[in-house]
Formats: sequence, structure tokens, C-alpha cells
Amino acid sequence: MKLRTLRPGDADALLAFELANRAWFESKVEARPPGFYSGAGVAHHIADCLAKYEVGTMHPCLLVDDDDSILGRTNLRDIDAASQRAEIGYRIAQHACGRGLAGLALRHMLAQAYSRWQLASVEAYVTVNNPISAHILAKQGFQLVGLEPAHAEVAGQRLDCHHYRHLRV
Ligand SMILES: CC(C)(COP(=O)(O)OP(=O)(O)OC[C@H]1O[C@@H](n2cnc3c(N)ncnc32)[C@H](O)[C@@H]1OP(=O)(O)O)[C@@H](O)C(=O)NCCC(=O)NCCS
Repeated sequence: MKLRTLRPGDADALLAFELANRAWFESKVEARPPGFYSGAGVAHHIADCLAKYEVGTMHPCLLVDDDDSILGRTNLRDIDAASQRAEIGYRIAQHACGRGLAGLALRHMLAQAYSRWQLASVEAYVTVNNPISAHILAKQGFQLVGLEPAHAEVAGQRLDCHHYRHLRV
């Protein structure tokens, strides 16, 4: 398996991945708009990600198996060269969880953040209802910064989020 940058040709596989795991993801993170879940919606999403990648404000990656099937996604978003910060997000297919893939994805993106994008820190927000994700962040060296009240809406509930930060060493 490997991590690689998202491509325009990923639309069909990405739609299948997001649909297959929709209920799983929406139980843990904010739901995507309903218009996302169509060929046109995902093609638009990919074009938007790659436009941001072109100008250096986003790094969208897929975690793929040896046959290039999608196991997960991870993105650096809101890359800001001035403040040398970005925010990380990640999601792993439910059937592939518990194999260390999120840890792998985080290590890869932290290396990209500091070598390629020359950042000084990476931010992460995790709801108070997602202790596994908080555990993964802490294991990769993220430090708890504080609590952001009502920062996310998950499954119809407004939730507080823990704000984590990883600093370049
Ligand atoms: C959170 C998520 C990314 C984890 O992915 P994963 O590939 O299963 O994670 P890993 O296998 O790398 O690590 C799982 C860790 O959680 C631990 N864990 C498993 N069940 C746990 C539980 N109930 N409570 C606490 N920790 C738990 C595992 O032991 C492992 O830790 P270890 O490496 O110290 O043994 C995945 O569940 C997911 O995509 N969830 C939906 C989207 C989401 O929540 N994204 C994160 C938003 S901040």
C-alpha cells in the first residue's frame, strides 16, 4: 500500500469509497453536502482539491492498496505559507480500520508538511466523541492545545472538539 496525490481519474473509485463508508464517516465526522454523492459532485470535489493543490493551499492524498483500490484519504488543507500552518484530516474505510493505516497516513502527511510545504506546525480538530482519533494524534506527537466549543456538527449533534497541534522538531 502507499499514499499518493489525488488524480482526476480517481472520481469513480472515490465515489464508491465515499458511498460505501458514508454511514461510518457520518457517525464520526461532519457530513458532506448531499450533492457530493454523484459522479458530477465528486468530479467537482476533485477539481476543487486539485486547483487548491496547484496554488499550494491543499495537499489531497489517497491511501491505496497494491491494486490502487482506495483504503483511505488524508488531506492537508488551508495550507498557509505566511503562518506556516495547515490543518490535517483523515478517514479510513471501515473494513480497513485497526491495521495502523491512520498512523501511516499521519506520518506521511507530517513529513510532507515539513519537507515539501516547509510548515512549522500542523493542526487537527477531533470531536470529544472520537477517542480513537485523539489517541492516534497523541501517538504521533500531537499536543492538546485546548477545547473548541461547538466546533463540529456530527450526526445532527453540535459537538465540542479537542484542538491538537504538531510542531516541527
Ligand atoms: C479514526 C480512524 C481514522 C482510525 O483509523 P485506523 O486506521 O483504524 O487507526 P490505526 O489503526 O492507525 O490506530 C487505531 C488505534 O486506536 C486504538 N483503538 C482501537 N479501538 C480503540 C478504542 N475503542 N478506544 C481507544 N483506542 C482504540 C488502536 O489500539 C490503535 O492504537 P495503537 O496503535 O496504539 O494500538 C478511523 O476509525 C476513521 O476513519 N474513522 C472515521 C473518520 C474519522 O473519525 N476521522 C478522524 C477525524 S479527526
